[in-house]
Amino acid sequence: MPPITEIEDLKRIYKRRVPKMFYDYAESGSWTEQTFRENSSDFDQIRLRQRIARDMDGRTTAGKMVGQDVSMPVALAPVGLTGMQSADGEIKAARAAERFGVPYTLSTMSICSIEDVAEHTQKPFWFQVYTLKDDDFMKRLFARAKAAGCTSLVITVDLQIMGQRHKDIKNGLSAPPKLTAKSIANMATKVPWGLEMLGTKRRFFGNIVGHAKGVTDPGSLSSWTAEAFDPSLNWERIKEFRSWWDGPVILKGILDADDAKEAINVGADAIVVSNHGGRQLDGALSSIRMLPTIMDAVGDKIEVHLDSGIRSGQDVLKALAMGATGTMIGRAYVYGLGARGQQGVTDALEVIQKELSTSMGLCGERDVANLSRDNLLIPKGFQGDWE
Ligand SMILES: Cc1cc2nc3c(=O)[nH]c(=O)nc-3n(C[C@H](O)[C@H](O)[C@H](O)COP(=O)(O)O)c2cc1C
Repeated sequence: MPPITEIEDLKRIYKRRVPKMFYDYAESGSWTEQTFRENSSDFDQIRLRQRIARDMDGRTTAGKMVGQDVSMPVALAPVGLTGMQSADGEIKAARAAERFGVPYTLSTMSICSIEDVAEHTQKPFWFQVYTLKDDDFMKRLFARAKAAGCTSLVITVDLQIMGQRHKDIKNGLSAPPKLTAKSIANMATKVPWGLEMLGTKRRFFGNIVGHAKGVTDPGSLSSWTAEAFDPSLNWERIKEFRSWWDGPVILKGILDADDAKEAINVGADAIVVSNHGGRQLDGALSSIRMLPTIMDAVGDKIEVHLDSGIRSGQDVLKALAMGATGTMIGRAYVYGLGARGQQGVTDALEVIQKELSTSMGLCGERDVANLSRDNLLIPKGFQGDWE
């Protein structure tokens, strides 16, 4: 196999290996996908300031995210259905993350359950919850995450209602995949993926089936999902969720300076500037374009992380230099997982760390903590003159 030198290499292998339904699930945004595309293309507008004759020896990418030591400030974002990209995918991703020294965030909508992941890993991971109506279920999820040793709780606040992704509807996305003539024909070309899947029992939503009221089998799950999300969510309710968790809480899905201020009021320890990887409000600005405004509003009062669109270490550098203290990656590690399982997630992290460290050096910096807007060339009007 040719060497993996960039995230794009992993994406190519991933596309060949995984059924179209799951590739499309990851590789799409909502409606026209404008925000999905701009999340990445807006990073390209920012340039790096080359410096020379500065001591670049002994560089470090190590830092802290919500008080936790990390080998680089890049956490694995919560991604639903990860166990369909590769058998037992959540366990593989969590293991790669713990060995690399970065946080892994398990999604509520995972295939492997919280207990499964805890049993197969050594270090604590983060757990992500959606803001659901069912208090009993939510409280039990929090208790299960606590019992499993999860440290931080990530509350995703940008999915009260769901954005539409055309491909998921057209493909009839489900877990496990529905067997139609089209999906069988496609899966027949993905033999290694299929054999691995046959070798695991984990093919349903492990945190939900058997745990949520009335969801005793995968068939009853779709009606539960349609009912479970709370369109009437407000800040009081978010504050209530916060009070149920006695560790660090990270609010994920903030894209507005006023909302960032509210996040401080409800007692969040960190926010993730995010538009859910362009999967929710199509037409929203990219995360990186919104970051400076949010940093100016709350950067000195709360820890700010960023996700959406990161595909390289240069992207991570740009987010950190703009002021974020941490980042999250979603698709960049999913490509690796689908391509090569646990090794592929490690590949993705290695690629990003190497790019970050080398680019940092060529910018004349030895420590991620010293990155600043001084390292960037930001085009005039990057934040935009929006009314
Ligand atoms: C396939 C897929 C599934 C996702 N599932 C979840 C989820 O279950 N919970 C959540 O908070 N975010 C979810 N997200 C959003 C990610 O956590 C993250 O915000 C996003 O992937 C960042 O953008 P990037 O993929 O460009 O890095 C998902 C993203 C993708 C691509």
